[in-house]
Parts: sequence; structure tokens; C-alpha cells
Amino acid sequence: MKGIILAGGSGSRLLPLTQSIVKQLLPIYDKPMIYYPLSVLMLGNIREILIISTPKDLPRFEEMFGDGAHLGLEIHYAIQERPNGLAEAFVIGKEFVGDDDVCLILGDNLIYGEGLTRILRQSAQNVAQTKKAMIFGYYVQNPQHYGVIEFAKSSEGFEVVSIEEKPNEPKSHYAAIGLYFYPNDVLTKATQISPSHRGELEITSINQLYLQEKRLNAEILGRGYAWLDTGTHQSLLEAGNFIEIIEKRQGLKIACLEEIAYKMRFISHQQLIQLGEQMSKNQYGQYLLQVAQQ
Ligand code: G1P
Repeated sequence: MKGIILAGGSGSRLLPLTQSIVKQLLPIYDKPMIYYPLSVLMLGNIREILIISTPKDLPRFEEMFGDGAHLGLEIHYAIQERPNGLAEAFVIGKEFVGDDDVCLILGDNLIYGEGLTRILRQSAQNVAQTKKAMIFGYYVQNPQHYGVIEFAKSSEGFEVVSIEEKPNEPKSHYAAIGLYFYPNDVLTKATQISPSHRGELEITSINQLYLQEKRLNAEILGRGYAWLDTGTHQSLLEAGNFIEIIEKRQGLKIACLEEIAYKMRFISHQQLIQLGEQMSKNQYGQYLLQVAQQ
């Protein structure tokens, strides 16, 4: 399974913060925002990753991650010329994905909770075995701002009845979070949809095609999970505060890519020490050295 992180967009809702820096590189407490979605892919054991961003911003990501070898990853880069929608990721990423299945995550999504790793690995497996798409619903107070999933109870759990993009009258409180697992034919589906009224190739249109074919599974991320928004000044700060509170209490870091790479055995003990030593003057580097000692 390949992974795609979409990290484009104009960031207009976060101006002036995003005047000269792309949203996904803004800090969430002690690390750049993109660390969080990248950590999700890594925990799902996805090591070949494509980062898609704007012509202006892509070089910043390349500077940050290079070829990804220091994290035991293979990171590739591609440009999205215009904000034509999330589903364009599969047009842009066609060659990168090749014959594989693919997981798309949005570069500004923060997902946190016990059991996430298990869900990620299971989803990747399910997609490979069943060739069905997999999306995730999360109960929110303002579903009209998101893709909204309507569920019905079936003998096997929950079944998707409908999915709509930012409806005025949402049929449920379940937002579709920015994490999607697809079988390889998503590459074809992405060429079959037309732009929505906001002029974008919507990921929701892709999900509707899978639903029509009875090939759309959805899992609910329950109340023990956090799916945080970073779209406004306030929610950005709140996300940072959330991370700070948990990291301080436990003395463990969330989305620490170097630690994850080490624990997943993508990198060696020696490599982790090297990464820690590069930042040993600060608390982040000291944390890495501490992980290496344990
Ligand atoms: C996009 C999707 C929407 C999804 C949301 C999750 O919205 O279109 O279905 O619920 O991401 O973050 P957008 O960020 O384009 O407003």
C-alpha cells in the first residue's frame, strides 16, 4: 500500500499566518503540522509516500524530508498546480501509486487515540483482501462543514447509506475524516468524476461511486478518539494545547516521527542516536536520545 499526503490549499482562513508559510508546516506545539498525518501513515506501516503541494510550497517539504531515508521512508513529491480538489491527488499520483492500493491523508488532519494503529493496519489489509474502500466517521457538532456519512445498523455492524459533501441539512453528525483507504481502481474513478459546484474534484464524489457499487466500508472512530481541526486561528491553538497537555502529562511524544521510525524498525538504534544528537540542544533531541537509551 502506498500513501499520499495532500498538503496544498491557499490557507486563506489562517491569514496572515499563512502569508509566506504553508499551513501544513505551521507548528502544532513542538512539531510541524504535517508530522501528524505522516505519523499516521508510518503507524499503518506505509513507507512509500507521495507529498503533494503547490508549486510555491513543495520545495519547503522537500527541504524538510528529503528522500525520507533518515526515517526509513521513501518520500516522493508532486505538484498540484491549482486547488482542484482532493480527488485530483489520484490523477497526480497515478504513476506513483502504480498497481498498488493507496491511503490518502490530508496534511492538516490530526487523529489521535488508542487503537488507531490497529485500525490502520486492519484497514490496509481489508482493502487488499476485499478491494473495497474504507473511510472513517467521527461524531462532530458541526457536520455541515464536512463530508457527512449516514449510517444504518446492519447485522455486520454499520453500513453506509449515503455520503454528502457539506450538506445544508446533514443527515447525521458523522463527519468523514481526512483519511481514506482505496483499492487501486480509485485511479480510474478519479478520472470519471466531474468538478462540484465549488469547482473541485471532490473526494466525496469518489466515495459515492464506491457506495453505488456497494464497495464503501466505513468505521466509526468513537468518543475515545480525537480528530482535531486546524482550520481557524482558534482551533490551531487548541490543537497545540491538546498535544502539549498529553505530552507533558506522560512525558511521551505524539507523532514523533523519529521515535516511530525506530519503534517500527524502519531505522536502526544508531540512526536514532544520530537524529537525536543533531537536536541535542533542545528537548526534542533529548527525548530521542532518551528513547534510544530505553
Ligand atoms: C475535505 C473533504 C470533506 C472532509 C474534510 C475532512 O473538506 O471534502 O469531505 O470531511 O476534508 O477534513 P475540505 O477541507 O476540502 O473543506
